[in-house]
Amino acid sequence: MNPKTQSEHTRKICELAPVIPVIVIDDATRAEPLATALISGGLPVLEVTLRTDAALDAIRAMSKVEGGHVGAGTVLTPDQVYRAKDAGASFAVAPGATETLIRACEEASLPLLPGSVTASEVMQAAEYGYDMLKFFPAETSGGAPALKALAGPLPHVTFCPTGGVTPDNAGSYLSLPNVICVGSSWVASGAAIADGDWQGIESRARSASHLRQR
Ligand code: 3PG
Repeated sequence: MNPKTQSEHTRKICELAPVIPVIVIDDATRAEPLATALISGGLPVLEVTLRTDAALDAIRAMSKVEGGHVGAGTVLTPDQVYRAKDAGASFAVAPGATETLIRACEEASLPLLPGSVTASEVMQAAEYGYDMLKFFPAETSGGAPALKALAGPLPHVTFCPTGGVTPDNAGSYLSLPNVICVGSSWVASGAAIADGDWQGIESRARSASHLRQR
C-alpha cells in the first residue's frame, strides 16, 4: 500500500470515534469482554499496546468482536508490524516515526499512525506521505496550544493527540480543526480491566463517544 493510501486509511479509522481507548492488557482472557464493553459503549476503534506478553493474543481475540477496529500500539520494530498484522490488527500506532517502521507497515499493508511533535517531525512525516499523525506525548509537548500553532504553517496535517489526555481536556483538543480524535487510557484503565469492571468501562466509553468530533 502506498504511503498516501496508508495515511488516508488511518484517517478514516480515526474519524470513526472521538476517542481511541489506549489499552494495556495483561490477561488475554479479558480481551473479548473488554472489546465488547468498549464497542457497545460507542467506541469501535481500539489500540492495544504491545507492552505486555498478552497483547498479541488480546488483539487476536478483540479482532473477532463485531463492529471493532483493533490496532496495535507501541509498535517499534518491523517484527512487531508483522506479528501485529498476523494477529489481526487493522492498523498500527507508533510513538514516533522511523523510515524502517514506515516501510515495514507499507510492505505489510498495515495503515500506520506515526507519532510527531515538532514542525520538523511533522514535515518529515509529510515527506513520507503521512498527514494523519499521532501527537505524542500531547500534554507535555504543549498540548492544545501547540497543536493550534502547528495548524498555522501546516494546516493540511491532522492529529490524534495522546498522552495526558483526560475527560477534562479532551474537549479543548477536539475543538481544534486539525484534531480528528484523541487517544487515552482513561476509558479502560489497567485497574478497571484488572477488576473486570465492564459496566464502568462501557459507561465511560458512552460518555467519551458523545464528545464532539470535528
Ligand atoms: C500511553 O502512552 O500509554 C498513551 O499515550 C496513553 O496515555 P495516557 O495514559 O496519558 O492516556
